[in-house]
Amino acid sequence: MFPMILFLFSLFLSSTHASEQEFCVANLKLPPTPAGYACKDPAIVTVDDFVFTGLGKAGNTSNIIKAAVTPAFVAQFPGVNGLGLSLARLDLAPGGVVPMHTHPGANEVLTVIQGSIVAGFISSANAVYYKTLKKGDTMLFPLGLLHFQINAVGVTSVALVGFSSSNPGLQILDFALFGNDLPTELISKSTFLDPAIIKKLKSVLGGTG
Ligand SMILES: *[C@@H]1O[C@H](CO)[C@@H](O)[C@H](O)[C@H]1NC(C)=O
Repeated sequence: MFPMILFLFSLFLSSTHASEQEFCVANLKLPPTPAGYACKDPAIVTVDDFVFTGLGKAGNTSNIIKAAVTPAFVAQFPGVNGLGLSLARLDLAPGGVVPMHTHPGANEVLTVIQGSIVAGFISSANAVYYKTLKKGDTMLFPLGLLHFQINAVGVTSVALVGFSSSNPGLQILDFALFGNDLPTELISKSTFLDPAIIKKLKSVLGGTG
């Protein structure tokens, strides 16, 4: 009898403890720290902090890459703060591409819900994993690895994307190389690319030097 009471009591203790820690809706009014956002006062948290309504709407693909990512990361969806997950909608118009990029902070899982997408990643051993995904197919992209998505059909393709972080981060390779003022000479020496190609890409992607 006594051990049973002790067991129930410890269950009670652990559940009260858990309820204090069940969520930490981001307080977006305070700046984020390296450890994340401060928690919004639970007394003013509402169901709308846990609901995101933006992913039903197509993103605007009228841009150079003919692609739109609609994020539901912590900055847009404060309820994901501390839960170790977030999501996004990807719209790829015909000819659209999400150029080679990495998410330093998250694994990614992508499910095609319309159209077809060629997607792939490159491991740090430089092994290539790519495939043409059809509607309903899901592909994984491990944390930190370079990867891409390209529309594979003549109509807009759409995917829902999940991340194992509320703030996955993003670095696009071509923008890192050609979208800033890193001198052409240094890019050429560090990438073995022809300076003429570098200057051409800088002019398209907004880089100088
Ligand atoms: C989409 O983006 C383009 C370029 O920024 C802009 O001109 C256009 O008005 C936008 N379309 C919509 C429907 O918001």
